[in-house]
Amino acid sequence: MSAEGANSPADILLTVDTSRLARAKDAGILQPIESAVLENNIPSYLQDEDNQWFGFSQRARIIFYDKADVANPPRTYLELADPAYKGLVCIRSSTNTYNQTLLASIVTHHSAEKAKEWATGMVANMARAPQGGDTDQLRGIISGECEISVANSYYFARSIRKEVKGLSADRDMIGWIFPSQNAEGAHMNRSGGGVAAHAQTATML
Ligand SMILES: [Fe+2]
Repeated sequence: MSAEGANSPADILLTVDTSRLARAKDAGILQPIESAVLENNIPSYLQDEDNQWFGFSQRARIIFYDKADVANPPRTYLELADPAYKGLVCIRSSTNTYNQTLLASIVTHHSAEKAKEWATGMVANMARAPQGGDTDQLRGIISGECEISVANSYYFARSIRKEVKGLSADRDMIGWIFPSQNAEGAHMNRSGGGVAAHAQTATML
């Protein structure tokens, strides 16, 4: 959309994660929109302050664990870095936006220093080098490579709705924790969208 500029045929950008929505706004590929439908149906905390994007759904990024092998799973994100879980934790790469936004939430709720300490502890606790997507972290619990993992909740839910290889058949092995319920609460990932900067809004609204 950025490269196409005014020639872009796009009317709407839909994406996941607040960071991508914010980057789209910063790149100038969205435009502010006045819509009673959006204003009346979407809480203000899920809207960009300049009405350039609107959140459409929220999904929790939570902790999963092997019920048979982990008697005392981590109850908070910070506990994932506890040395008690050394060699047990699987998580996808920090190049992924889901993990970057989770780290940003730790900076916000605690501090940059605490977030750095947490990230260092996470690396020390890893069962293997980061690989694959969220589903692969859940598969790692089934295969026994991991005892504890982090994933968005819908990756687990999908294994109930349909057959997910390496996960559905043995998913009863896996327990889950909605973290930090006595503190900041579970980290919510957001999806949303905005109107493209060069969309012909007069014909849309
Ligand atoms: Fe996803």
